[in-house]
Amino acid sequence: MSYLLLYSSTHGHTKKIILKISEQLKKLGHRCDIKNLNTENNLNLLNYDKILVGASIRYGHFNKSLLRFSKMHHSQLNAMKSAFFSVNLIARKKEKKEENIIETNSYTRKFLKKSPWKPTLKTVFSGALYYPRYNWFDKIMICFIMKITNGPTDLKTTVEYTDWKKVNIFTNKFEKL
Ligand SMILES: Cc1cc2nc3c(=O)[nH]c(=O)nc-3n(C[C@H](O)[C@H](O)[C@H](O)COP(=O)(O)O)c2cc1C
Repeated sequence: MSYLLLYSSTHGHTKKIILKISEQLKKLGHRCDIKNLNTENNLNLLNYDKILVGASIRYGHFNKSLLRFSKMHHSQLNAMKSAFFSVNLIARKKEKKEENIIETNSYTRKFLKKSPWKPTLKTVFSGALYYPRYNWFDKIMICFIMKITNGPTDLKTTVEYTDWKKVNIFTNKFEKL
Protein backbone atom coordinates (compact mmCIF):
# COMPACT_ATOMS: atom_id res chain seq x y z
CA MET A 1 0.00 0.00 0.00
CA SER A 2 0.96 3.60 -0.45
CA TYR A 3 1.17 5.84 2.62
CA LEU A 4 1.58 9.59 3.00
CA LEU A 5 3.17 10.54 6.32
CA LEU A 6 3.04 14.25 7.17
CA TYR A 7 4.76 15.95 10.08
CA SER A 8 4.46 19.40 11.63
CA SER A 9 7.55 19.78 13.80
CA THR A 10 9.64 22.64 15.21
CA HIS A 11 12.62 20.88 16.77
CA GLY A 12 12.49 17.57 14.94
CA HIS A 13 10.89 15.22 17.46
CA THR A 14 7.60 14.71 15.60
CA LYS A 15 9.63 14.03 12.46
CA LYS A 16 11.62 11.44 14.42
CA ILE A 17 8.36 9.69 15.40
CA ILE A 18 7.17 9.77 11.77
CA LEU A 19 10.48 8.26 10.62
CA LYS A 20 10.13 5.47 13.20
CA ILE A 21 6.60 4.75 11.96
CA SER A 22 7.76 4.74 8.33
CA GLU A 23 10.54 2.21 9.15
CA GLN A 24 7.94 -0.12 10.62
CA LEU A 25 5.55 0.31 7.67
CA LYS A 26 8.34 -0.23 5.14
CA LYS A 27 9.32 -3.48 6.87
CA LEU A 28 5.73 -4.61 6.30
CA GLY A 29 6.20 -3.95 2.58
CA HIS A 30 4.47 -0.57 2.22
CA ARG A 31 5.62 2.51 0.31
CA CYS A 32 5.88 5.69 2.42
CA ASP A 33 6.20 9.30 1.29
CA ILE A 34 7.26 11.63 4.11
CA LYS A 35 6.50 15.35 3.82
CA ASN A 36 6.64 18.48 5.94
CA LEU A 37 3.08 19.69 6.50
CA ASN A 38 4.28 23.21 7.37
CA THR A 39 5.96 23.81 4.01
CA GLU A 40 4.18 21.53 1.55
CA ASN A 41 1.42 23.29 -0.44
CA ASN A 42 0.96 20.93 -3.32
CA LEU A 43 -0.39 17.71 -1.88
CA ASN A 44 -2.28 15.25 -4.02
CA LEU A 45 -3.93 12.82 -1.61
CA LEU A 46 -5.40 10.77 -4.45
CA ASN A 47 -1.96 9.16 -4.88
CA TYR A 48 -2.24 7.42 -1.50
CA ASP A 49 -4.20 4.66 0.25
CA LYS A 50 -3.71 6.01 3.78
CA ILE A 51 -2.66 9.30 5.36
CA LEU A 52 -1.02 9.94 8.71
CA VAL A 53 -0.41 13.37 10.25
CA GLY A 54 1.73 14.04 13.33
CA ALA A 55 1.88 17.54 14.83
CA SER A 56 3.55 19.05 17.88
CA ILE A 57 2.34 21.73 20.27
CA ARG A 58 4.14 25.02 20.76
CA TYR A 59 2.85 27.49 23.36
CA GLY A 60 -0.55 25.84 23.44
CA HIS A 61 -1.11 25.62 19.69
CA PHE A 62 -0.50 23.41 16.69
CA ASN A 63 1.04 25.07 13.65
CA LYS A 64 -1.66 26.83 11.58
CA SER A 65 -0.84 24.51 8.67
CA LEU A 66 -2.66 21.67 10.48
CA LEU A 67 -6.11 23.29 10.49
CA ARG A 68 -5.50 24.67 6.99
CA PHE A 69 -4.74 21.13 5.77
CA SER A 70 -7.85 19.78 7.51
CA LYS A 71 -10.10 22.44 5.93
CA MET A 72 -8.58 22.07 2.48
CA HIS A 73 -8.63 18.26 2.27
CA HIS A 74 -11.39 17.08 4.63
CA SER A 75 -13.68 15.62 1.92
CA GLN A 76 -10.90 13.45 0.55
CA LEU A 77 -9.53 12.62 4.02
CA ASN A 78 -12.91 11.60 5.40
CA ALA A 79 -13.40 9.25 2.46
CA MET A 80 -10.21 7.30 3.24
CA LYS A 81 -8.40 5.71 6.18
CA SER A 82 -6.43 8.33 8.06
CA ALA A 83 -4.72 8.82 11.40
CA PHE A 84 -3.54 11.69 13.55
CA PHE A 85 -1.20 11.99 16.52
CA SER A 86 -0.28 14.99 18.59
CA VAL A 87 3.00 15.47 20.44
CA ASN A 88 3.37 17.58 23.56
CA LEU A 89 5.06 17.68 26.94
CA ILE A 90 1.98 17.92 29.13
CA ALA A 91 1.36 14.27 28.20
CA ARG A 92 4.65 13.30 29.90
CA LYS A 93 3.14 13.48 33.38
CA LYS A 94 2.10 9.98 34.31
CA GLU A 95 -0.04 11.28 37.16
CA LYS A 96 -1.89 13.51 34.66
CA LYS A 97 -3.20 10.46 32.85
CA GLU A 98 -6.02 12.39 31.19
CA GLU A 99 -3.44 14.37 29.15
CA ASN A 100 -2.19 11.09 27.71
CA ILE A 101 -5.57 10.15 26.30
CA ILE A 102 -6.86 11.64 23.09
CA GLU A 103 -10.37 12.57 24.21
CA THR A 104 -9.06 14.43 27.21
CA ASN A 105 -5.75 15.91 26.03
CA SER A 106 -6.79 19.54 25.99
CA TYR A 107 -4.89 20.62 22.81
CA THR A 108 -5.94 17.63 20.76
CA ARG A 109 -9.54 17.73 21.90
CA LYS A 110 -9.80 21.41 20.88
CA PHE A 111 -8.28 20.70 17.46
CA LEU A 112 -10.56 17.74 16.77
CA LYS A 113 -13.61 19.81 17.72
CA LYS A 114 -12.69 22.49 15.15
CA SER A 115 -11.43 20.13 12.47
CA PRO A 116 -13.75 19.10 9.60
CA TRP A 117 -11.36 16.17 9.05
CA LYS A 118 -12.26 13.31 11.40
CA PRO A 119 -9.28 10.94 11.54
CA THR A 120 -10.12 7.24 11.75
CA LEU A 121 -7.41 6.66 14.36
CA LYS A 122 -5.90 9.19 16.75
CA THR A 123 -3.56 9.33 19.71
CA VAL A 124 -1.28 11.51 21.84
CA PHE A 125 2.45 10.92 22.33
CA SER A 126 4.66 12.52 24.96
CA GLY A 127 7.30 14.63 23.27
CA ALA A 128 10.91 15.51 24.03
CA LEU A 129 12.74 18.23 25.87
CA TYR A 130 15.86 19.43 24.02
CA TYR A 131 17.07 22.60 25.81
CA PRO A 132 20.29 22.90 23.72
CA ARG A 133 18.19 23.27 20.54
CA TYR A 134 16.08 26.19 21.82
CA ASN A 135 16.80 29.88 21.44
CA TRP A 136 17.30 31.86 24.66
CA PHE A 137 13.66 33.02 24.86
CA ASP A 138 12.27 29.48 24.43
CA LYS A 139 14.88 28.16 26.91
CA ILE A 140 13.71 30.60 29.58
CA MET A 141 10.03 29.99 28.91
CA ILE A 142 10.33 26.19 28.89
CA CYS A 143 12.57 26.25 31.94
CA PHE A 144 9.90 28.29 33.76
CA ILE A 145 7.14 25.86 32.71
CA MET A 146 9.33 22.90 33.79
CA LYS A 147 9.97 24.53 37.14
CA ILE A 148 6.27 24.92 37.90
CA THR A 149 5.48 21.41 36.66
CA ASN A 150 8.42 19.72 38.45
CA GLY A 151 10.34 18.94 35.24
CA PRO A 152 14.09 19.23 34.49
CA THR A 153 15.49 22.78 34.67
CA ASP A 154 19.15 22.07 33.83
CA LEU A 155 19.62 23.82 30.47
CA LYS A 156 21.84 20.99 29.21
CA THR A 157 19.00 18.45 29.53
CA THR A 158 17.76 16.45 26.56
CA VAL A 159 15.09 13.88 27.41
CA GLU A 160 12.71 11.86 25.25
CA TYR A 161 9.49 11.09 27.09
CA THR A 162 8.00 9.29 24.10
CA ASP A 163 6.74 5.80 24.82
CA TRP A 164 8.16 4.01 21.75
CA LYS A 165 6.12 0.89 22.54
CA LYS A 166 2.97 3.00 22.26
CA VAL A 167 4.25 4.29 18.88
CA ASN A 168 4.78 0.70 17.76
CA ILE A 169 1.26 -0.36 18.81
CA PHE A 170 -0.27 2.71 17.12
CA THR A 171 1.60 1.88 13.88
CA ASN A 172 0.26 -1.67 13.91
CA LYS A 173 -3.28 -0.39 14.39
CA PHE A 174 -2.81 2.11 11.55
CA GLU A 175 -1.48 -0.60 9.27
CA LYS A 176 -4.51 -2.80 9.99
CA LEU A 177 -7.11 -0.06 9.31
C1 LIG B 1 8.92 26.80 22.49
C2 LIG B 1 8.18 25.58 22.94
C3 LIG B 1 6.87 25.67 23.38
C4 LIG B 1 6.19 24.52 23.81
N1 LIG B 1 4.90 24.64 24.27
C5 LIG B 1 4.26 23.55 24.76
C6 LIG B 1 2.96 23.66 25.31
O1 LIG B 1 2.35 24.72 25.32
N2 LIG B 1 2.40 22.54 25.83
C7 LIG B 1 3.04 21.31 25.83
O2 LIG B 1 2.48 20.34 26.33
N3 LIG B 1 4.26 21.18 25.28
C8 LIG B 1 4.88 22.26 24.75
N4 LIG B 1 6.13 22.14 24.21
C9 LIG B 1 6.73 20.81 24.13
C10 LIG B 1 6.74 20.27 22.70
O3 LIG B 1 5.43 20.01 22.25
C11 LIG B 1 7.58 19.01 22.70
O4 LIG B 1 8.89 19.38 23.02
C12 LIG B 1 7.59 18.27 21.38
O5 LIG B 1 8.40 17.13 21.51
C13 LIG B 1 8.07 19.15 20.26
O6 LIG B 1 8.07 18.42 19.07
P1 LIG B 1 8.79 18.96 17.74
O7 LIG B 1 10.26 18.90 18.01
O8 LIG B 1 8.36 18.02 16.70
O9 LIG B 1 8.27 20.35 17.50
C14 LIG B 1 6.83 23.26 23.78
C15 LIG B 1 8.15 23.17 23.34
C16 LIG B 1 8.82 24.30 22.92
C17 LIG B 1 10.25 24.18 22.47
